[in-house]
Amino acid sequence: MTELIVARTPEELCAHLAQRVGQAEARNLAAVEQRRAAGQTEEDVAPEAPRVATVGLVPTMGALHEGHLSLVRHALAETDRVVVTLFVNPRQFNNPADLAAYPRTEDADAAMLEPLGVHVLYVPDGVDMYPEGFATTVSVAGVSEGLCGAFRPGHFDGVATVVAKLLIQTAADRAFFGEKDFQQLMVVRRMVSDLDLPTRIVACGTVREEDGLAMSSRNRRLSAEERILARALPDALFRAAGAIGAGSDVKATLAQARDAILAGGFRAVEYLELRDEASLAPVNSLGNVPTRILAAAWLGDVRLIDNVEVIRATTVDISARDAVAQGRRVTTV
Ligand code: PAF
Repeated sequence: MTELIVARTPEELCAHLAQRVGQAEARNLAAVEQRRAAGQTEEDVAPEAPRVATVGLVPTMGALHEGHLSLVRHALAETDRVVVTLFVNPRQFNNPADLAAYPRTEDADAAMLEPLGVHVLYVPDGVDMYPEGFATTVSVAGVSEGLCGAFRPGHFDGVATVVAKLLIQTAADRAFFGEKDFQQLMVVRRMVSDLDLPTRIVACGTVREEDGLAMSSRNRRLSAEERILARALPDALFRAAGAIGAGSDVKATLAQARDAILAGGFRAVEYLELRDEASLAPVNSLGNVPTRILAAAWLGDVRLIDNVEVIRATTVDISARDAVAQGRRVTTV
């Protein structure tokens, strides 16, 4: 089993990565030498000539669940050395109570990662990430506005700043993000493109529980009763996406979905909107561009977000559970 190395400072991260990447490259080189020694011609060997080992980054705030592990599995499949970061980033919390309540479970997180073969777990502290005098903010306009951006002022500045730092610190070739945080994914993509950062951003499908609830570290803050009610959110989104995909009126369908979420036990719906998937611009009627319904709603003290793509179809009334059962572009465990 690959030994999981824990790095706590940017310097340790750099040293461990150099060592791990160096080991991988040395192994590639040794394999080529072996084939040469076994009498293979230069032409046979050449296609597999020593290549630079690639680094995959999975940024997280810990409290890991199957959704994170699916990102890690993608990273392990696509890159040679995988770094998982665990940092509860204070700059992306607009509400101090939310930051204080965020679950911190480093030992359990490390125990979940080690058997998968993750190479480095990077756990910097606040002072290392934001030393005294830190004065830079990465701010992405456009896609960060509206939706979560309207209700969590400064949130996406905090996300963009920390993700930029993590991409640079790890020199990642690829970084893996879940579609559950769809607006975050778009903000990161825009930032990477605008700043010419050399990392490819890989989007991974939302992982859902059997009843359709999107996996989230926040789900563990739901009471047993709230956990049962929580399915009202994905249910309403899948039904609305089905109806809109089949041609129903967008405004009326979204209003019905909002009512269904409230009737299902949520105390407030912050937003529930149909958006252009690429630009996140509001959409009032189904045209030819791919669209998605995105929502945030409060169940007791817990704020849940989710989103579902709209597929043109004839099936109108599809529940979240049915969508999961049919494997409709959702990932389950
Ligand atoms: O999605 C998250 O867990 C966080 O927003 C991220 C990307 C790790 C940045 O802190």
